[in-house]
Amino acid sequence: MRVFVTGASGWIGSATVDELLAAGHEVTGLARSDASAAALRAKGALVRRGDLDDLDGIRAGAAGADAVVHLANKHDFSNPAVSNAAERAAVRTIGDALVGTDRPFLLASGVAGLTKSRPATEDDASTAHGPDSPRGGAENLALEFVDRGVRTVSLRFAPTVHGTGDHGFIATIAAVAREKGVSGYPGDGTNRWSAVHRLDAARMVALGLEKAPAGARLHAVAEQGVRTREIADAIGRTFNLPVTSINPDDVGDHFGWVGAFFAMDLTATSTATRNLLGWTPTGPTLIEDLDTGAYR
Ligand SMILES: NC(=O)c1ccc[n+]([C@@H]2O[C@H](COP(=O)([O-])OP(=O)(O)OC[C@H]3O[C@@H](n4cnc5c(N)ncnc54)[C@H](OP(=O)(O)O)[C@@H]3O)[C@@H](O)[C@H]2O)c1
Repeated sequence: MRVFVTGASGWIGSATVDELLAAGHEVTGLARSDASAAALRAKGALVRRGDLDDLDGIRAGAAGADAVVHLANKHDFSNPAVSNAAERAAVRTIGDALVGTDRPFLLASGVAGLTKSRPATEDDASTAHGPDSPRGGAENLALEFVDRGVRTVSLRFAPTVHGTGDHGFIATIAAVAREKGVSGYPGDGTNRWSAVHRLDAARMVALGLEKAPAGARLHAVAEQGVRTREIADAIGRTFNLPVTSINPDDVGDHFGWVGAFFAMDLTATSTATRNLLGWTPTGPTLIEDLDTGAYR
């Protein structure tokens, strides 16, 4: 297939491009900088230069492909409205370009906010609707295109897609620990995060492209829940820092924007995804990655 990948130069995207190329697909990656374009070309991918805000370019990229994998995100965590508006506009543009084609449209999402007191499953629909909701309600917006002849598939990544070189949430939490001289965890540290290794996540995306039916919600989740206390302990071991509880009222002050996420219970299962795709995660666990220096 000719696959148009946005976010192709990113943490998950660059591993996904490798998987897609290895599976024999032709990949065109969206790149907004010379460095991203060069990295993609070096892998053997084609390049479409452009920004997420260049909706004509996104439309042309989607219309000229057999499938779209949308992983780009502005990630303005201090001002999520900016990221969410761009996400929604991009998703609508890609969906419109694919109407009536039955072509795959895979888009990134997450597992936050799906359930309150139990792990989220693939059957749990997102309650995020509309531009003011988390991620701009992009998952539900994309799924609306199923009835219009688009093979939409949601890629719900665990809150940590971990590994060497990660610059996401765990790297941010580790940076806070180093800056403050203590490795903190929210409250009693019993809230949990699901987790997946980056290469397992990328393999799931490639399998999802080939096998997932329209409307599928896939969970890139290898570990259902790792307690935040365990994460803080491992960061403490990594940087030889004391480990301490952070009062829930002080989590925002201590951790900054990432505190709101670190204080959430973000557990999820992936039984349905494993069964559907024949996907078995094989990478190291989050704690193994921390203990072997992936974040040092
Ligand atoms: N990593 C995780 O743990 C995790 C967990 C849950 C969900 N997700 C979601 O999965 C997706 C991929 O995440 P990631 O960790 O791979 O993100 P990432 O490493 O931050 O990569 C983001 C990608 O988006 C591109 N991008 C950012 N702003 C852009 C713009 N204005 N125009 C065009 N491209 C732009 C970046 O391009 P440049 O290379 O030019 O910067 C990069 O390729 C995102 O939607 C993310 O929210 C990730």
